[in-house]
Amino acid sequence: MRSVKSSVKGRKAAGTRLAVLIALQALGLGACSLQEPAQPRIDEEIAKQEKIYRSRGADVPGGYVTNRGLSDYAEVLSTGFCDALGRLGSSDRWLDIGAGEGQAILDYYAPGDNAAPGEKCGGSGPKARAVAISIEDRRRDKWKQQTARLGDDRIQYLSGKRLSQYSLEELGKFQVITDVYGGFTYTEDLSRFVDKVLRLLEVGGGFYTLATGVHLEDGKDKLGSLYLTELEDAFGRGVKVCSWLKKISCVQVTCESKSDSKTPIELIKIRKVCSETSVPRTKLVEFEAGYPPGRCFQLEQ
Ligand SMILES: C[S@@+](CC[C@H](N)C(=O)[O-])C[C@H]1O[C@@H](n2cnc3c(N)ncnc32)[C@H](O)[C@@H]1O
Repeated sequence: MRSVKSSVKGRKAAGTRLAVLIALQALGLGACSLQEPAQPRIDEEIAKQEKIYRSRGADVPGGYVTNRGLSDYAEVLSTGFCDALGRLGSSDRWLDIGAGEGQAILDYYAPGDNAAPGEKCGGSGPKARAVAISIEDRRRDKWKQQTARLGDDRIQYLSGKRLSQYSLEELGKFQVITDVYGGFTYTEDLSRFVDKVLRLLEVGGGFYTLATGVHLEDGKDKLGSLYLTELEDAFGRGVKVCSWLKKISCVQVTCESKSDSKTPIELIKIRKVCSETSVPRTKLVEFEAGYPPGRCFQLEQ
């Protein structure tokens, strides 16, 4: 049987990947099943990933996109995101995890005539306070100009740490949380990440994100699909990301499967319905640096 390293790298060789998957599925196994200890390799790949975060200027890889605007968010997030943003009042709060340059928040706050088409997403009513989080500081001058215009308490940009490294007191609570190719796509500790997001979310609030390169909830994966994030249970059986999310207590999870490209994408909305959320634990068993990285997680019993 092939190791998961081959399986993650398989996104570069779809044909091989498919053959491996079929072989593994025939054996009743998920794609993360390991033959050899992976930790030294994981550490090496995580170091490579750090270099991507630290890259600047011409060294930023072309595929590492950090400037998506609000219209892009409206396009890639699940139905209902723009309305949820539009319903927020001026004392409510929106957290954008993995905000890159913070362009979506700048568009949200763009004044009248300067508004990008996506400004309509979120309506023209009162604006919520918005917090952007990024590991690396990717702010441009326009962020500083907007902060000067609005005053510090309306928009905030936090960098230098991962989401998991902030205390709940530091960040406070939010009614809307977004993550577009941010921590949800990049984290090495998926369950800890989701647990933190849910703790930061007010009861009744919504987390909007997407999972790219995952096995689709509706099972309509196309032949030759490329997989980036894979989950398996303790017996090595493949588990879909949405099925895992639906095991979390105190939330309602909605997944919209998109199968119109080679990369299957799940648009995810998680509504918090009560405060005692509990996320089934995952353990990283393989990681390959990239944008996005390839990851395999095993569910702990
Ligand atoms: C590819 S960029 C996406 C930026 C933006 N959302 C966009 O679509 O243009 C990835 C962003 O996620 C951030 N990120 C990755 N893992 C994170 C984590 N665990 N906590 C906070 N930010 C994270 C990176 O620092 C970066 O800002």
